[in-house]
Amino acid sequence: MRSFKTVYFDIVGFCNAKCPYCHSGINTIGGGSKITVEKFNNTLVKLRDERVINRRTVISLYSWGEPFLHPEIHNIINGINELDLKYAVSTNASRVPCIDRNFVKNLDQIVFSMPGFSQESYSKIHGLNFQDILRNIVKIVEDCRTFDFKGNFVISYHVYKFNVTEIKKCELFANDNGIIFRPYYAILNHWWILQDFINKRLPKDESARISEDLFNSEDIERKMSESPKKLLMSSI
Ligand SMILES: C[S@@+](CC[C@H](N)C(=O)[O-])C[C@H]1O[C@@H](n2cnc3c(N)ncnc32)[C@H](O)[C@@H]1O
Repeated sequence: MRSFKTVYFDIVGFCNAKCPYCHSGINTIGGGSKITVEKFNNTLVKLRDERVINRRTVISLYSWGEPFLHPEIHNIINGINELDLKYAVSTNASRVPCIDRNFVKNLDQIVFSMPGFSQESYSKIHGLNFQDILRNIVKIVEDCRTFDFKGNFVISYHVYKFNVTEIKKCELFANDNGIIFRPYYAILNHWWILQDFINKRLPKDESARISEDLFNSEDIERKMSESPKKLLMSSI
């Protein structure tokens, strides 16, 4: 069996951002939990022994949760280092972990998720303090470079209708700090809300807010039915 290039391994099941369109954060059911270091290490050993992963695989320590909220993030990273695997994170940059040689040793890339480039946009989506986030991003980048990290930093800029005029400012900030700038349309990634939106089961004001905020929210059913996935399936 060929090993995977990337494995997404959510180490925490919760997030401190308040994104209304996400399954995590304010929409987390039951508070969410975190993986123990022992279970994490044992799982990686099992995946390696079964050849699901190898030394070229990047273990991405997120899917829905905020990885830097794991209270033992350094022991999680030590486990990766001991197996000489690579790892990546995507973060809302609300927390700055302690960055040292071990932290950067097998780090592949850090993605910063941004829902705009103003406090207004942050108040609408992440609910975090925008200036704190900018300071934290600069600190994380500087600290990693202090320890000779040569990999990529990326800003995933979620494009909403209300933050289009802020895109350029964010791009300049990214350029100033040597960060790759990657804007893409924000999506409704809470699938039950998406389903209710498509089936017109949401309260009118909620449905109107989604249409006001998100691009591609018009005629969404047709767009989904014409998506490449459908074409791929029908060609099999
Ligand atoms: C749900 S986040 C969890 C990881 C981490 N807390 C973060 O903020 O990056 C996982 C990925 O989804 C992306 N993401 C989050 N909300 C999104 C949205 N509404 N539209 C598109 N991508 C989104 C983020 O950029 C991130 O890379």
